[in-house]
Order: sequence, then structure tokens, then C-alpha cells
Amino acid sequence: MKTANSIDALRKARAKLRGSVGFVPTMGALHEGHVSLMRRAVKENKHAAVSIFVNPSQFGPSEDLAKYPRTLKQDFALCKKAGVDLVFTPTSEMMYPSGFDSWVEVVELSKPLCGEFRPGHFKGVATIVCKLFNLVQPTRAYFGRKDAQQLAVLTRMVADLNMPLEIVPCETVRESDGLAMSSRNRYLSPAERERALCISRALREVERLYAKGERDAGHLTSVLEAALGAEMDEVQYADIRKLSDLSEFSDKINAPALAAVAGYVGSTRLIDNVVLGQSGKAARK
Ligand code: PAJ
Repeated sequence: MKTANSIDALRKARAKLRGSVGFVPTMGALHEGHVSLMRRAVKENKHAAVSIFVNPSQFGPSEDLAKYPRTLKQDFALCKKAGVDLVFTPTSEMMYPSGFDSWVEVVELSKPLCGEFRPGHFKGVATIVCKLFNLVQPTRAYFGRKDAQQLAVLTRMVADLNMPLEIVPCETVRESDGLAMSSRNRYLSPAERERALCISRALREVERLYAKGERDAGHLTSVLEAALGAEMDEVQYADIRKLSDLSEFSDKINAPALAAVAGYVGSTRLIDNVVLGQSGKAARK
């Protein structure tokens, strides 16, 4: 496995790769969720590349940029074990040199849900992923459904800007008790982790009702809210949206839908979602 810690080294290493390249952008602190994306990239392409970069432009001023977990040695070991060929680890100074002044904004899709609570977040995500695509020039790029809005924003960006690659959505990987894997789970105390289970439990309940034929978006939203209220310290949103454009249903669910949750358990922000009415897998226990 080759590692590149500068743009120059990355370009040189990339030029040597012949055939298809599967790419997994990450912020490190890798876990089984990331590994599942890497395995798919390895399996479906001649070569696989991973980037590890904690992107400052997607963190708000009061967010956890400084304390975001950094576990580079372990991350390299996981990449190697998964069969990755190339790992790119740039610094902030390389990605945002002084005078940096170009941004990518996916306007409407970035507004609801997380966009409401994290202004500028998706502009930071779209910009860094665009830059990484330009550098790595992947054939396919792999993203988790756990970050459903991120996936929607980046799919739109690639289509709108005619980027020559395919975005591959990947199912959410969960702990055996249902908690969606996240680099931030390590912040949770044992008691908080227990309370965090209300999120996947609430989403499973919505899935169960949907499978039984419930289509009233308002009712399903109130089921979600009720199941979260007692355990979460702050619910930022608990919502059912159209999967295609993240807009609201006026009444009945009549198209593939996303049931999505975000909020705080203690001082840790967690998000999770399930897709209703499509082949997307359930938040199974
Ligand atoms: P990060 O949070 O490190 O996630 C990297 C990728 O792993 C994303 O596509 C995310 O959706 C996926 N992922 C995380 N947890 C997952 C899980 N439990 N199951 C399946 N996939 C999971 O998302 C980012 O980094 C950044 O915003 C990034 C795209 C790298 C841009 O900076």
C-alpha cells in the first residue's frame, strides 16, 4: 500500500494506476462502516484509493474540529487489511493554501435537515469532495447512506457539474444492537450509548409501521418524535422526506422516503436514517 502525504506525491502515485479506481473519501478514525466502503471499492475496481482528511471547512465554529478523533496508525492498518492501494493524507495548508477562494455549493439540497443546524457544512463537504475528485480522478466513489443528505448533495454535484465518475451508495453498517457506526460514538459514555439506542429503535418502529401499510407522514413523524423525546438531550430533527429531493410530503407517503433523525445525546451529535419504500436495507437489530 502506497501513502501520499502531498498533492505532488498523490498525483505521481495516481498516474501509475492503470484501469478503474474506486475511491473512499474519509475523515479517518476508521471503523467497520468505512471498511465496508473500502472493501466494495477494492472488489469493484482494479485499484482502490482512500483519503484521510479532517476537513476544517465543513465544521462550524462551535463544532468538534479540534477534538475530532485522529487515529492515523490504526487507519493505515485498516486500509492495508482491506486491500487499498493508495492512501492520501493531505494537510489543511495543502488543501486550503492562503488565498483559497473557490467554493462549490449545491444550493437547495443543502438547506433542510442538517443544513439548517450546520450552516456552511455542505458547502465545505462539496468543495473538499470536488477537490479530492479532481486529484484522485476516480472511476467510482463510495459513500455511506448513513450520511443521506451528504450522499444526495454529492450525487447532485456530480450530475450538475458533469464530473466523470459514478457515485456508489453503500448501506449503513450497525453495531449488533442497532447503533449506526460513527467515529463520534467513541465520545459516548456507557450510559449515553445506551440512550443513543433510541435512535435506531425509533427508526425500526417507523419501518415496521410503514411495512404494515402506514403512509401518513405526519403520524410516522410523531411516532419518531415520541420514541426519541425521552432519551435524547436535544432532537434537532425527526423527519420524513422525499428521498429524491429531501422535500416534505404534504400528506401521504407516495414516493420513496427517508426517515431521518439528528440530535444530541450528551454533547455528542448523532445522525441516522432509514429508507422507506425502496430496496434500502432496514435498521435491523
Ligand atoms: P466520514 O464521516 O469519515 O465518513 C466517510 C464515509 O464513510 C462517508 O461516505 C460516510 O457516509 C461513510 N460512513 C460513515 N459511517 C458509516 C456507517 N456506519 N455505515 C456505512 N458508511 C458509513 O463523511 C465524511 O467523512 C466527510 O464528510 C467526507 C465525505 C470525507 C468529506 O470530508
